Amino acid sequence: MTEHDQRDLWIANYGDTPVPPPRTSTFVTTCLARLGPHSRILELGCGGGTDAEAFAGAGHEVVATDFVPAVIAGNRERLGHLPNLTFAIMRIDQPYPYGDATFDAVYAHLTLHYFDHDITTSIVAEIHRVLKPGGWLLFACKSPDDPSFGKGIEIEPDMFDFHGKVRHFFSEKYAQHLLTKCFTDVEIQTHRGKLYRQRAGWITVAARAA
Ligand SMILES: C[S@@+](CC[C@H](N)C(=O)[O-])C[C@H]1O[C@@H](n2cnc3c(N)ncnc32)[C@H](O)[C@@H]1O
Repeated sequence: MTEHDQRDLWIANYGDTPVPPPRTSTFVTTCLARLGPHSRILELGCGGGTDAEAFAGAGHEVVATDFVPAVIAGNRERLGHLPNLTFAIMRIDQPYPYGDATFDAVYAHLTLHYFDHDITTSIVAEIHRVLKPGGWLLFACKSPDDPSFGKGIEIEPDMFDFHGKVRHFFSEKYAQHLLTKCFTDVEIQTHRGKLYRQRAGWITVAARAA
């Protein structure tokens, strides 16, 4: 459990009834273009599992994780028949139960922006550990362009607590800074538009493990 732990909020957010799976993220398409055939992918914070399903549908070997047990159970029920897709309960902000250089890619769609700088730094190191050299880190995070930026109490630079909901907004500069030490070929794109039918600002990032 970390200082700004959001697990109970997420459990309450998902509720007791099965959540309809969200639409596949558009980011998946650009990620698929980077991956070699039969890549081993670790997804962090998979939610309803549709992105994992898309990666598995393209022939990749996917382990999709989330810390909400009901979400993982629902995904197993819906998608458990796919031989190249497994679901696991796992926290993003604690050591991962996988060996060094296990994965060709780590994918995180709107899930790395909940942690303070120190924890984010340790998460990036842990991602780097489980990636093969040259493996891809592919992620999307809310950015300071998002309409919710600045709402609530600023607890760290660009990190706000809005009635218990914590968000750490990633500027391009911040993402660059995080990846400088252990990643190369960093590509960052900024986006403004709609996510989950709401106005949003976010960045997408692709980088290779050095
Ligand atoms: C905004 S949702 C994104 C879900 C999915 N990636 C998508 O784009 O539809 C964030 C997800 O991250 C999970 N999550 C948040 N903090 C986490 C943590 N510390 N460890 C594991 N999962 C976490 C939540 O349970 C939730 O499913």
